[in-house]
Parts: sequence; C-alpha cells; structure tokens
Amino acid sequence: MSFNYQTKTLSFTSGKGGVGKTTVSANVAYRLAQSGKKVLIFDADLGMANVDIFFGTRATYSIMDVLHGSKSINDVIFPLDKNLSLISGGHGYEKLQNLDSFSRRTLLDSLAETTSAFDYILIDTSPGIAQNVLQTNAAVQRVNVIITPEPSSFADSYALIKLLNSKHKVNHFSIICNQVKNHEDGFYLFKKFQDVVQKFLIVGLEYMGSIPSDSLLRTANYQQKLISKHMPSSDSSIAIAQITNELLKSQIRTMSHGGLQFMWENLTGVA
Ligand SMILES: Nc1ncnc2c1ncn2[C@@H]1O[C@H](COP(=O)(O)OP(=O)(O)O)[C@@H](O)[C@H]1O
Ligand SMILES: [Mg+2]
Repeated sequence: MSFNYQTKTLSFTSGKGGVGKTTVSANVAYRLAQSGKKVLIFDADLGMANVDIFFGTRATYSIMDVLHGSKSINDVIFPLDKNLSLISGGHGYEKLQNLDSFSRRTLLDSLAETTSAFDYILIDTSPGIAQNVLQTNAAVQRVNVIITPEPSSFADSYALIKLLNSKHKVNHFSIICNQVKNHEDGFYLFKKFQDVVQKFLIVGLEYMGSIPSDSLLRTANYQQKLISKHMPSSDSSIAIAQITNELLKSQIRTMSHGGLQFMWENLTGVA
C-alpha cells in the first residue's frame, strides 16, 4: 500500500459554537482548491454537519453509509467545486466500534489510501471539549483555533487548548481571529489571548490572521453562497485569502503522527 505522506491535515476548531469554523474552513478550502491544490473537507461537526449548505448543495451520503457497508468510499466523496470535495461525517460512528477488527482495518486502510490522493484534508469539527473533538484535533498536523472578541470564546478556546495539550500532547496551535473590527484589533486580540495562554501553558501559538466582521459575508452565508467565490473582493474574502496564503507558506510542525491511517482511526473513534 502506498501512502502520500505529503497530504496535509488541518482542523478548524473552537471552544464555542457560532464563531465561524464552517465559514473559515469552507472558504479556506475553496481558496486552496483555486490555487491548484486538491482539497478534501471532512465535515466532523457531528451535531450540525453543514459544510455542504455553505456551497448551496446537500451531500447525498455520509461516511456512515460506508460504515454500514451500503456505499463505497468513492461514493461518499461528494464533489463541491473544481479540485474540491467533501466527506460528510454524518451523526456518529457507533457502528464502527461493532465491526470486527479485520473489517475495521480494511476500511481504515482504504479510507487512508483513497484520501491520500488529496493535497489537503480540512476538518470542520464540532465545538467544545467532547472526547470526539479532542480526538479529531489530536489526529491532524495543524490545529486552527478560531477565536472571536467575545469573552466566552476566549475562555472556551483556552479550555480546549489546555485539554489538547495535557491529554493529547498537542503543543502547537494556529490562531485565527474572526469577527473583529479590523486587522489591528484582530492582532491585538491574538496578543491578549497569547498572554493568557502562555501564562499557564507551555504551547506555541502562531497567528494566522484575522477576518473582519462583514455584513456581506453574513448575507452570503444566509443565501448559501460562498463569499470567496461570489464576492472575492469583499473585505472578508481578502482576509480569508491572506489566511490561506499563510497556511500555504507555513511549515506543518506536528509531524509526529502525520499518517492518514492514524488520522482516520482517531476520526472514527477506533484509536
Ligand atoms: N467574519 C464574519 N462576519 C460576519 N458574520 C460572520 C463572520 N463569520 C461568521 N459569521 C456568521 O456567524 C454565524 C456562525 O458562523 P459559522 O461559520 O456557522 O460558525 P461555526 O461553524 O463556528 O458554528 C453565521 O451566521 C455566519 O454567517
Ligand atoms: Mg459550523
């Protein structure tokens, strides 16, 4: 079996819901795909899988159909745009735990092999600190934490980082500031967050950029139109393009467990 160890795996996560995880992952994925990378989004928000809605469509199947044995992996890879596909996580993976270990191994091997055709795998997680969220974030090479100026977003993201660090040894995080007034305020928010986190934890935080609060973005989302596609010159689209460039430039640091097999084991709760 040949694996493409070049596949880069990233999550978009937060302590709190409604901060913009899906907005950021969908738009960053689109920009990466536009730049010529082959991109897969895995929608792991088990409570509210809605990445497809952001593209004005609805995925036909989810990974649950593969786990139930009614579909092949290729059947559940849903095309969203040029170079861009989606696998929907469905609503849970309880079935996988019931598979015998041979079937489980075969399934995970083929998932890893099929998805190694992508340059990037982006995962939109559920918010919070539930076990499946921690495990998903522990499975990828880069964890992007989205924070907003709301005090509760601060506190909840701190709690998430603390648990990922203490329980899963994740020691490097990318920070994206969303719904800020402007870039200066975004950077200030990052600095403030960094001060708090580094007072108590030994982790590296890398600033990836900020996205302004933008009524055009809100409207585009509401109309199920991807802002980066339909209004590429809006302030938020430009900010998202800059963040995408940062992601393209920056080195993936957590290479210790970069394999796709490891990732799928963690994502499907087998590990
Ligand atoms: N930069 C922004 N400016 C304006 N509205 C935003 C921005 N980012 C997100 N939103 C809005 O906030 C809400 C939550 O965004 P969403 O991406 O669904 O968050 P999450 O996936 O974290 O729950 C949506 O209504 C979305 O349109
Ligand atoms: Mg979401």
